[in-house]
Amino acid sequence: ARLAILLSGRGSNMVALVNAVQHGVLQNLAEVAVVFSNKPDAPGLETAATLGCPTASLTSQGRKRQEFDAEVVQVLQQFQPDYIVLAGYMRILSPTFIRAFAGRILNIHPADTHAHQGLHAYEWAFENQLVETKITVHLVDEGLDTGPILAQHPVDLRGADTLAEVERRGLAVEHFLYADTLARLIRGELPNATIETGAASAAV
Ligand code: GRF
Repeated sequence: ARLAILLSGRGSNMVALVNAVQHGVLQNLAEVAVVFSNKPDAPGLETAATLGCPTASLTSQGRKRQEFDAEVVQVLQQFQPDYIVLAGYMRILSPTFIRAFAGRILNIHPADTHAHQGLHAYEWAFENQLVETKITVHLVDEGLDTGPILAQHPVDLRGADTLAEVERRGLAVEHFLYADTLARLIRGELPNATIETGAASAAV
């Protein structure tokens, strides 16, 4: 399967995915078709190039969401992706984008999406002194962190007394869970992963 990985920042999840493609659980299952960013100066974009991935970017700053997303769809389609893999892509996707790749867009959220949506999930877990949080990989629908859950994995937060420690433990789970979930999805081991797309529902 061909992956388009979308990021806006550091790109540690992208690195984990590329490693999995090159010599891990995604080997012989997936290839990185492109790493795309809405921020041409995102550190993760340069890292992706260093790792040998094709890269592309378009600046989203000052652009209307719908128009920008229509251009992004055009760029991504040139790389013929089977899956759009959001990895710290800090944009809410417009319906234009979601419909172009309906049922084939994945996101990783650093919390249980039933308990917390949107930004600052690790801060939320830390400030609420959770003893456990969950990392969620889900399909993206038109809501914010509302799509069908593909996988969740707990993070033990007992004794994590700084935000940095909460993030360190969480990211370690993120980095294996995303690749692992994609591998299962591509192998057809997640048959219930469907997303409602208006009249029809698309199976992935
Ligand atoms: C991760 O915590 C991810 O769950 C969230 O954004 C962060 C991206 O980090 N959606 P990185 O750029 O992959 O290092």
